[in-house]
Amino acid sequence: MIDPADRLNIVEEYYFSKKLREISELEASGKSIINMGVGSPDLQPPSQVVEVLKNSLNDEKAHQYQSYKGLPELRKAIANFYKEQYYVRLNSETDILPLMGSKEGIMHISMAFLNPGDEVLIPNPGYPTYASVTNLVGAKPVFYNLKEENKWLPDLSQLAAQDLTKVKLMWISYPHMPTGAKATKKVFEDIVEFAKKHKILVVNDNPYSFILNGYPLSFLNIKGSKEIGLELNSISKSFNMAGWRVGMVVGKKKYIESILKVKSNMDSGMFYGLQKGAIKALQSGAIWFSSLTSIYRQRRELVWELAEILNCTYDKHAAGLFVWARLPEESSNSIDYVDLILKNKGVFITPGSIFGSQGEGYIRFSLCVDEELIQEAINRF
Ligand SMILES: Cc1ncc(COP(=O)(O)O)c(C=O)c1O
Repeated sequence: MIDPADRLNIVEEYYFSKKLREISELEASGKSIINMGVGSPDLQPPSQVVEVLKNSLNDEKAHQYQSYKGLPELRKAIANFYKEQYYVRLNSETDILPLMGSKEGIMHISMAFLNPGDEVLIPNPGYPTYASVTNLVGAKPVFYNLKEENKWLPDLSQLAAQDLTKVKLMWISYPHMPTGAKATKKVFEDIVEFAKKHKILVVNDNPYSFILNGYPLSFLNIKGSKEIGLELNSISKSFNMAGWRVGMVVGKKKYIESILKVKSNMDSGMFYGLQKGAIKALQSGAIWFSSLTSIYRQRRELVWELAEILNCTYDKHAAGLFVWARLPEESSNSIDYVDLILKNKGVFITPGSIFGSQGEGYIRFSLCVDEELIQEAINRF
């Protein structure tokens, strides 16, 4: 028996990986489960996208290795998308690196910039991958608390009072997952100033900016942000294409080159047809987003109704693919609460504590469930 590497002792199997196994077992035993946990869009991508993918399959170079930097026309489509949607100018030759989803970028960026012992500022609550990847590369997570009373925004003056000398990287993610909190330009400006002062690379993980959000904002839209900042983005949620695994990291040439050094040693360019489809998706424009918004808005109304039945409170102004709801005071911890609901009602909701200690006392409902099923969940209560 060969032992796994020591680094595996500091990461655990992803909560969903275990929980979805349990849900499959319940389903196999005949139970009907309504899964309101995961944020995997159930809607179809823009219709032309699939056509483009199909039609590309007979192109001459469709099945060959592709460039590590992606097709030039994909990078151009990303540059155009950033210009039209976020008013950010990017050089498609130097400032953009297509990725296999933004999740991949969390590892690549960490590999590119962190040495063992470096410290990384990570939001609590936040996407669990930031901490697990930090641990995998031998760096040290330093969690910063986000609080409802502070609109789930970082308290920069409190952070500045800490010893930041070993901090090299800071993860932010606005619109925030799991809370749906939005940043303003002013919030981003303050973060840019903070990062410049303390020589910290800030990465905004931005996959939710087109979901139930009237004003999509890029961190790179802020003056001076390119000096200290990068942004991850993806077509997973914006175009219902999570399984395609197409994302991007954008920012200053020097930073992108460092990330490319890692990426080009780990994988080869993504499949040609996926890149062609992604280009089409990125060209979808305003009508696409308004139809997406109207579907999620209707679903959210129903999820709010369900949250109220459970005596939870929530913020009607939040963005993103989830409803983040505060449990009533008398409730047990969120994992027990969710397990009880799964057992008694066959409805799975994500416990807030899997996103960090600050998520305790909250639950997260996914909007990737069609209206009939949400109604059925309501009926079960
Ligand atoms: C905050 C956040 N970042 C990144 C990802 C990864 O998205 P993808 O790799 O599909 O772009 C997710 C997915 O759920 C997420 O919630």
